[in-house]
Amino acid sequence: MDSLDRLFRADARDFDRPVLVTGAGGCIGSWALAILVRAGVPAVAFDLDARSHRPGLIMSAGELARVTWEQGDIADAEAVERVVAAHGIGAIIHLAALQVPFCKADPVAGARVNVVGTAAVFEAARRHGVRRIAYASSVAAHGAPADSPWLATLYGAYKACDEAMARVYWTDWGVPSVGLRPGVVYGVGRDQGMSSKTTVAILAAAAGREYVVPFTGANSYLYAGEAAAAFIQAISADREDATAFDCNGTCTTVEEALEILRRLAPGARVSASGEPMPLPFDNRDALLRAHIGDYGCISVEEGTAETFRAFQVLLQQGRVSPEF
Ligand SMILES: NC(=O)c1ccc[n+]([C@@H]2O[C@H](COP(=O)([O-])OP(=O)(O)OC[C@H]3O[C@@H](n4cnc5c(N)ncnc54)[C@H](O)[C@@H]3O)[C@@H](O)[C@H]2O)c1
Repeated sequence: MDSLDRLFRADARDFDRPVLVTGAGGCIGSWALAILVRAGVPAVAFDLDARSHRPGLIMSAGELARVTWEQGDIADAEAVERVVAAHGIGAIIHLAALQVPFCKADPVAGARVNVVGTAAVFEAARRHGVRRIAYASSVAAHGAPADSPWLATLYGAYKACDEAMARVYWTDWGVPSVGLRPGVVYGVGRDQGMSSKTTVAILAAAAGREYVVPFTGANSYLYAGEAAAAFIQAISADREDATAFDCNGTCTTVEEALEILRRLAPGARVSASGEPMPLPFDNRDALLRAHIGDYGCISVEEGTAETFRAFQVLLQQGRVSPEF
């Protein structure tokens, strides 16, 4: 992953205490751990999974060994607080969540993880004086207001609630935070959720298999490394408010991105059909970058090429499954 050497880096001098990454076994979390570890920033991972396979797709075994791994449920407020206290956490990247299909399949579990879990994180931060928090909202939050033209989902409703809670933690208790609303993340490790299919197309091309992305048209292409770098940049300095920002990456069409993929893999049997995803994907990152500073970016061409090459290697090594 040479983007980790060239584009997405952290500076250890910005951190005087360990960083807690919740949902660290997921896609963005794996990339966040990789960036932090490479910079020499002590990182504590918190996830329901004892040892997720995803971080190992991006980090070497040696790098992974430098991460302190805490298994736990983000909705267990006592467990979250214990981890924050035990490790003297100075900053939190809060990513643990259930994605759109899982929230729809089990709305109560979705609310527990996505809303109660976020409350647990803010409460631990409040009690232990953690003043650097970056948490994941989502582009799906744009569908939450009653007059929104965009797709309304329970997942988006929970994320909108998280943003509202973050504002109250600032106004009532002076706990600052930065909310990021990622668009559609792609890259190694993106293997679950409604919008993961653009990454599945790259995996299919690397595996020489046929695949039809079940949506067309405008889409956000936010490279996982870029998303992770944005979260890290957001906690690299003290903040004095609690604003949420779009974090969209590049807006292009699924068709154009598949064309890029076919140029890399001539003969790839990848296509798209269906309706566009009814969410706003031409959001601008300018406000976020103005607020937190630059965090690097990568073109869809480069991000797709890196993902394609990485999947070829991982498939050869039998570390990702060609089944999807
Ligand atoms: N991937 C995207 O395109 C995208 C877009 C918008 C927002 N987001 C948000 O960004 C964050 C990270 O996304 P991702 O793609 O890395 O997600 P992911 O699904 O790959 O990972 C989520 C992680 O959270 C963990 N988790 C689930 N329930 C938990 C619980 N009860 N306690 C502790 N850990 C738990 C899972 O084990 C998993 O490792 C999420 O909050 C997601 O909603 C992602």
